[in-house]
Amino acid sequence: MKSGFKRILVTAALPYANGLLHLGHLAGAYLPADIYVRYQRLKKRNILFLCGSDEHGVAITVTAEKEKTSPTTVIDRYHPANLRAFKDFGMSFDNYSRTSLSLHHATAQEFFKEFHRRGVLAEKQEQQLYCEKDKMFLADRYVEGTCPNCRYPQARGDQCENCGTWLNQVDLIDPKCKICGTTPVVRKTRHWYFPLGKYQKRLEEYIKQRSQRDGWKENVLRYCESWFKEGLEDRAVTRDLTWGVRVPVAGYEQKVIYVWFDAVLGYISSGKEWAEKSGDANAWREYWLQDDTKYVAFIGKDNVVFHCIVFPAMLMAWNDSGKEQYVLPENVPANEFLNFEGQKFSKSRGWGIDVSDFLRFFPADTLRYALALNLPESRDSDFYLKDFQARTNNELADILGNFVNRTFAFVDRHFGKKVPKFGGLSRIDKDMLALMKEAPSKVGDLMEHYKFREATHEVMNLARSANKYFNDSEPWKTVKTDAAQCSTTMRVCLEVIRSLAILFEPIIPSISRKMWEVLNQKGEVEQQGWDDASVPGLEESHTLGNGEILVSKVEDKQVEEVVRFLENPGVETSPAKDVKPVISMDEFKKIDLRVAKVISAERVLKSEKLLKLQVDIGNEKRQIVAGIAKQYSPESLVGKLVVVVTNLQYAKLMGQESQGMLLAASDNNDKLALVTILDELSSGSVVK
Ligand code: MF3
Ligand code: ZN
Repeated sequence: MKSGFKRILVTAALPYANGLLHLGHLAGAYLPADIYVRYQRLKKRNILFLCGSDEHGVAITVTAEKEKTSPTTVIDRYHPANLRAFKDFGMSFDNYSRTSLSLHHATAQEFFKEFHRRGVLAEKQEQQLYCEKDKMFLADRYVEGTCPNCRYPQARGDQCENCGTWLNQVDLIDPKCKICGTTPVVRKTRHWYFPLGKYQKRLEEYIKQRSQRDGWKENVLRYCESWFKEGLEDRAVTRDLTWGVRVPVAGYEQKVIYVWFDAVLGYISSGKEWAEKSGDANAWREYWLQDDTKYVAFIGKDNVVFHCIVFPAMLMAWNDSGKEQYVLPENVPANEFLNFEGQKFSKSRGWGIDVSDFLRFFPADTLRYALALNLPESRDSDFYLKDFQARTNNELADILGNFVNRTFAFVDRHFGKKVPKFGGLSRIDKDMLALMKEAPSKVGDLMEHYKFREATHEVMNLARSANKYFNDSEPWKTVKTDAAQCSTTMRVCLEVIRSLAILFEPIIPSISRKMWEVLNQKGEVEQQGWDDASVPGLEESHTLGNGEILVSKVEDKQVEEVVRFLENPGVETSPAKDVKPVISMDEFKKIDLRVAKVISAERVLKSEKLLKLQVDIGNEKRQIVAGIAKQYSPESLVGKLVVVVTNLQYAKLMGQESQGMLLAASDNNDKLALVTILDELSSGSVVK
């Protein structure tokens, strides 16, 4: 980090909560962001890492319509699922928010209102595509057609996925309604427009200045140049839709704010939510409102225009008010796309693999490592399972894992698990220590310049050199012939392991943690200092921890299993034992649960397990047969308030009709307990 900056703010694109994250998402924005942040934390920099779900826009409503459910159901399903996947992948966000929060609606409306009040926005009546069959304006993804720029046949109303162009829907060639497939007509409607063109000069200046200062990526600059060349135009920032943030202007009650206008502000809202949770509601200001904050926005290439042009223009417009001054991105290190086995990830064609599915087969760190070496930093890249297997086996296991294991085993056997002392240093010892010495600055420099592939390579090179050093030093010989040299060799190896644990932490945090445990070091590896990895830091005679398998190899069998899963994903999707898929509130509400009073109970003849109960469920009596005879005597139940599922199909058990089901809980040891109601409550009360 160049001097002058006092803190860092990092955001990663807010993924739509309309589907599960796949490996392409990770390679585009999230893994690079996480590596960068973890590195900066080790550098002891003051840093805040924000993300969240993008829960508005047609991406969500189209999914809801496809699944015949509500947008709320969709976001309530995918937000927690993606949060979980991120966690399992090892993402270290300080906050993961969601744009459906009222806190966020307020933020977006505040910006809109301010722009409206100051006359930044212009109201215009313009032609928009309207479907006469569905009786609606076809905002954004509700219409598809051929891209006027690259001729891709499935460009969306607001953006072409293929060439990244931000489109005006009326420019689509041969547009079709996404819902019914018919050709829409054009109709007039009123919208508020943001005058991007007015900001072009300042945006060009801004990008020129920042790119000189922080070295923007070629691909990003190329995109920006082509937009500038075409000339920026006014863009509508309201939509004829019902799902989204309400437009806070009279006469616009039936419209919402354009999803991209609200989504980018989601970064700010996420900061506000983080601050509230941390107990100081103003803490977000330190990061967002100071120009000595270095703000880095990680995204995928399809988001470039929104982060390099639209968002900065919005922040400029806000800052012009003379109110709080928001910091603009110092850099927007966008990645290109990752393909899977030679083809584009595609939800509609069912091609690719979700993060959560992948992580059921392999540990997160093996994925992080393989992706890190294959990030689409300057051009599209490909993820092949065979490569993943080779990276895991030949590098993580055979180089890193092997080096750690053989060192540990040797010290265990010959030095009683105690850190040996440095004897005199021979040529190769000095060379090895020199490599270790230069590694943090070398790797750090790559990290600062967003070159995570190379950084990963460099760290593994240190492990590679260390393995060679072990071989060349032949400690299995010196242990008999030159005890001092052997001691030095093993000390150097252990010191390199310590350095590797720190340097690998941003990339493979769980494996680093294990290395730290093998060394039996105090504190957590993520609390260490990056630059401390350049010098020896172990204490002589300190006792090591236990040997651990750092990395298991990926067997052919496992790869085949994944391939089979990809061919037939339905078969194996059930998650961990007893964990059920998320359901919506609507689905839950279908279950009629009521408080019932037990009137009488008796054993069912010939059955050890069953009791027959008569219960009062309010205005009705029911007979219920339940498998609780081993746990409860009939007498002990009379008068108890229990919970009954009253709308379950009647069933016969041992010839006795059961007109409902009692709720009971059981643990792993099959202990069983009835769900009862603590306080007096009338029979028939609804349980919800
Ligand atoms: N949801 C968008 C996408 O997945 C990204 C939004 S980034 C934000 O492409 F900044 F606008 F939030
Ligand atoms: Zn295109």
